[in-house]
Amino acid sequence: MKITLSFSTPAEVETEALVAAALDHGEKERTGSAKKEKPQLKLATGDAAVQSAAADLLASGELTGKPFETNLLHKPAGLKAKRLLLISGGSAKKFTSYDLRRIAGAAVRTLKSRGIRSFAFITPQSIPAEEAVRAIVEGALVGNFDTDYYRSDRKDQKIDALTILAGGNADHAALETAAHEAQIIGESQNFTRDLVNEPSNRMTPTILADHAKQMCQEVGLKCEVYGADKIKELKMGAFWGVAQGSDEPPALIVMKYEPSGAPDKPVLGLVGKGITFDTGGISIKPADGMEKMKYDMAGGATMIGAMRAIALLKPKVKVIGIVCATENMPSGKAQKPGDVQIAMSGKSIEIINTDAEGRLVLADGLFYARQLGCTHLVDAATLTGAVVVALGYANAGIFANDDAMYERFHKANAEAGEKMWRLPLDDEYKDNIKSTIADIVNSGGRWGGAINAAMFLKEFAEDTPWIHLDIAGTAWMEDQKPWIAKGPSGIALRSLVEFVKSFAS
Ligand code: BES
Ligand code: MN
Ligand code: ZN
Repeated sequence: MKITLSFSTPAEVETEALVAAALDHGEKERTGSAKKEKPQLKLATGDAAVQSAAADLLASGELTGKPFETNLLHKPAGLKAKRLLLISGGSAKKFTSYDLRRIAGAAVRTLKSRGIRSFAFITPQSIPAEEAVRAIVEGALVGNFDTDYYRSDRKDQKIDALTILAGGNADHAALETAAHEAQIIGESQNFTRDLVNEPSNRMTPTILADHAKQMCQEVGLKCEVYGADKIKELKMGAFWGVAQGSDEPPALIVMKYEPSGAPDKPVLGLVGKGITFDTGGISIKPADGMEKMKYDMAGGATMIGAMRAIALLKPKVKVIGIVCATENMPSGKAQKPGDVQIAMSGKSIEIINTDAEGRLVLADGLFYARQLGCTHLVDAATLTGAVVVALGYANAGIFANDDAMYERFHKANAEAGEKMWRLPLDDEYKDNIKSTIADIVNSGGRWGGAINAAMFLKEFAEDTPWIHLDIAGTAWMEDQKPWIAKGPSGIALRSLVEFVKSFAS
C-alpha cells in the first residue's frame, strides 16, 4: 500500500473516497436498561465543507453511533471526493488512538470489499497528529490483510493507495517519519501473519527458517540456522526431546541485529516458540480443532517479523532473535510420558505430558539466548489453553520476573495499542512443577495452567530480567472483525518493536 501524507483541505481532495470519523458527543451512557439517549454525532474534523456534506445524515436520527457503523454517501455536495464514508468511532470522550487504529482498519475493509482501491482518511483532531498518523497507517495495513491464498475464487482485493489528510499546523517532517515507521511496523506485522497463516505442510521448520534467512538477507541481518546436529551438540535436550519424534528436521534460527554505534549492553533477546504443528505428540490432542495447531509457531513468526521491523527502523540497541522450530509429532521415535530430558542449562525435566512441548523448546531457547549474551529476555508463545480460559481472546497473558521490565513493556503495549494482562509468578506455584525423579515436571496440571507453564520457563530465565507473553488466545482471530480478517492477528509484534525502541532513546 502506497501511503502519502497530504496537508490539503479535505474538501479539495480528489479521491475515490474521503473517510471521516463520526464521534458521539452525547452525555449519557447508553446502557441496556437506561432510557435511550439519542447519539449526538459530530465529525472529527474542523472542515466545514465536509461537515456540511454529512450534516443531514448526522441529524437524521437514523444512525446509532455505535463503533464501526458505516455510511457511504456518493457525490457528496461541495466535495471533490467521489464518495464520503462516515465511520463511527463510538463515544468522543473515550476515543483514543486504539480506536482510531481499528476505525482505519474498518475503513480499509469496507472500501476494499466494494472494489475501491484508494482513499483519503481525515485525521481526527482530538488525537495528537503524530500518534494519529501512526494509528491510521498501522490500522489500515492490518485491515488490508486477507488469508484466502488457496481459494480458486480468491478476490485479492487490496487498497493500493492511502492518503492521510493531516492537520495544517503539524510538523510535516515528524509526521512523515511517523508514517514511514508505522508502515514498516504494519508491513512487518503482515509478514508475520503470512507466515502464521500457512498450513504446516507448507510451513515446516525448514521452510520457516528459509523465510527467516531470506528476510535477514533483504534487511541486512546476520542469520544462522542450525539443525539436529548442532541442537544435540549444544546439549539442548529439552528442544531435542520434542524434535526427535518428527521426520521433519528441526531448525534453531538465530538472527542478530548489531548496529554500529550501539552500546555493548543491553543485548535484548527475543525468543519465539516455533512449533510448526502441534499434534500433542504421544499425549495426542483430540481431532476436533487440531487443524488450528498450525498456528503454534506464531510466537516464532512474531520474532522473525519483529527482527524485520527492527532492522529497518535501526534503533541503536543490540537485539538477538531466536526461534526454536520443530513439529510435535507422535512416532516410534517420539518422547513418551515419564521420559526424563536434560535441558541445556543442566536441569532435568520429567515429561509428564508430551503436549506441554512449547515450554521445552523455549527452556533451551531462553538459556541459549543468555549464553549468547542477552541481558534482557522476552519470549512469545502460543503456550497454553489455560491462558485462553483465564483471559479469553481480548488480552494476551504477560508474565515478568522483574517489575521494571514489566513497566517498560506495559508502556510499549499502550503505545502499540495491544492489550495484555499481567498474571502472577508467586513462589507458591513452584510446588506445581515439582518432580520426584527429576528437578521439575513439564506439566503442572490444570489449575493455573498458564502460570505453571510460566513458572517452568522462569527456571531457565533465572536472574535475567524476562518477560513471557502467552499469546495462545490472541494470535488467531476466531472470527472476522470490522477491522481485521479471521485468522492470524500478528499480536505482540508492535509491542515488541516499541519495547526495543525504548532501549534506544
Ligand atoms: N500449543 C498448545 C497451546 C494452545 C492451545 C495454543 C490452544 C493455541 C490454542 C500447547 O502446546 C499445549 O498443548 N498446551 C497444553 C499444556 C498442558 C498439556 C499442560 C494445554 O494448554 O492444554
Ligand atoms: Mn502442545
Ligand atoms: Zn504447542
